[in-house]
Amino acid sequence: MRKKIVAGNWKMNTLPAEGVALAQEVVAKRGEVCECVNFIVCPPFTHLAQVAEALKGSTVELGAQNCAAEAKGAYTGEVAASMIAALGCKYVILGHSERRQYYGETSETLNKKMEQAYANGLTPIYCVGENLEEREAGNHFAVCKAQIEEVVFNLTEEQFKNLVIAYEPVWAIGTGKTATAEQAQEIHAYIREVLASKFGAAAQECPILYGGSCKPSNAAEIFAKEDVDGGLIGGAALKAEDFIAIGKGFMA
Ligand code: 13P
Repeated sequence: MRKKIVAGNWKMNTLPAEGVALAQEVVAKRGEVCECVNFIVCPPFTHLAQVAEALKGSTVELGAQNCAAEAKGAYTGEVAASMIAALGCKYVILGHSERRQYYGETSETLNKKMEQAYANGLTPIYCVGENLEEREAGNHFAVCKAQIEEVVFNLTEEQFKNLVIAYEPVWAIGTGKTATAEQAQEIHAYIREVLASKFGAAAQECPILYGGSCKPSNAAEIFAKEDVDGGLIGGAALKAEDFIAIGKGFMA
């Protein structure tokens, strides 16, 4: 049985007090959904510590949205994996399309970030996905394959056992356009095949999340697909009610 995960990527939203209030509300409503669904929230760096405090005693877990490629030292403005781990993070989102697109993250940088994550006991949520042009040209399979081969294939078998993948088509992020459940299943199954070509049976255990305008009204249909193990949620994760309702998609 693969882990079922609903992870909230808050992106650059919420001030500390708002983030704490949101986390408290998620904790309060979490009981409405089966314990078999794992909830993760990923606030901005600035209030990881306060949100960690708000999550204490609950089963809602904490993640960060990024980490530095280096361990420590003269890297002004960067935040090390050891720092976010010390604040109570269990996960770190890496390779989000917004970081690839706006901050020039390449596979080379991501390989280093993955190493840092594992060296500090964090589970990476590694994001892959094509843009609209690539989808329209039918290149989505090749794009996702390359993003996996160039980074995930460098992991050891041990590391791979502690990995979450998120498929996020760029054209569906924040656009209100969602991949259909069939489109999601098709590429999730393909991603699993690519993973299996390197890691064999262990690929069956790797959670693959869908991300891109996932909301309460479409979560159940998408999560019902065999190779979709949950969601990485942006906008809808900023409302506790919607975030939890997405988790209920597993129970529909
Ligand atoms: P939206 O749910 O806002 O489309 O964002 C998805 C996403 O990028 C999560 O990482």
